[in-house]
Amino acid sequence: MAKVLEGVAIATAIKQEVAEEVKTLAARGVRPGLAAVLVGHVAASEIYVRSKVNTCAELGLYSDLIMPPTDVTTEAMLELVEQLNGRDDIDGILIQLPLPKHVDAKRLLDAVDPDKDVDGFHPINAGRLLAGRPALVPCTPAGVLEILKRSGIAIAGQRAVVVGRSDIVGKPVAMLLLHEHATVTICHSQTRYLDAITREADILVAAIGRPGFITPAMVKPGATLIDVGINRITTREEFDRFFKGDLKREETFARRGSTIVGDVDPHAFEIAGAYTPVPGGVGPLTIAMLMANTVRAAKMRRGL
Ligand code: GUN
Repeated sequence: MAKVLEGVAIATAIKQEVAEEVKTLAARGVRPGLAAVLVGHVAASEIYVRSKVNTCAELGLYSDLIMPPTDVTTEAMLELVEQLNGRDDIDGILIQLPLPKHVDAKRLLDAVDPDKDVDGFHPINAGRLLAGRPALVPCTPAGVLEILKRSGIAIAGQRAVVVGRSDIVGKPVAMLLLHEHATVTICHSQTRYLDAITREADILVAAIGRPGFITPAMVKPGATLIDVGINRITTREEFDRFFKGDLKREETFARRGSTIVGDVDPHAFEIAGAYTPVPGGVGPLTIAMLMANTVRAAKMRRGL
């Protein structure tokens, strides 16, 4: 039987550690603060941002939720970022993506003070990671490494394959695995003979954003599967492909008319040695690592 890597439990442990650190900082008169900027009304973004702000309160961090109007201009957003860069009560700045199309997201992300860039999206932080001097590392990749390490999964010398090359997940997670001495291959939509490569993976990270893309035939028996995907499926055909006979899922699907599947076909979990479920695997780590990054930023900024 494959081992389930319980993201919720690992995230809870990290959040407890962060809360302890927040207490220690409070004794020195420091309260880490996060500014969360949300533009527009993307339902998923609203849920994520609310959850981020609530977690700040839970762990004792200060947070400021800023919701500019949907028709806000890039110029006005740049001014806001400048203000936040200058505010002493703000250690971390998070601009929730996606932004409306009329806002120049690249310009905004580049305007965030790299030392307050708790998402780790600024080119300076990407460079620091590449150079082996990581400071603020993107939250989801950092969470993937926490899951592996805290679950006692060997990384050094292992063959790791990352499917997906995004700036936010694929590239940084590959770099983190490399720094832990894995032999890393990055694959993507144009990779030839993908199956042959993924079948060599001891650790397979799926971050390509396609429901159930990694099939059982692509997995080496006993491999560790890290599923970063979050895909909503709504058709009976898709449901049956992934979850036929799963009564608990059937119940969710009937009630909501949809369910979530990762980038790994759940049938592949059966031949894995260990895997992160969706939901409840990598997802919960993202917010935990955001909290950890905010505390880290607060300490770095004060030379602690
Ligand atoms: N949208 C989806 N994931 C993320 C994330 O990790 N950070 C931000 N800022 N926006 C997102």
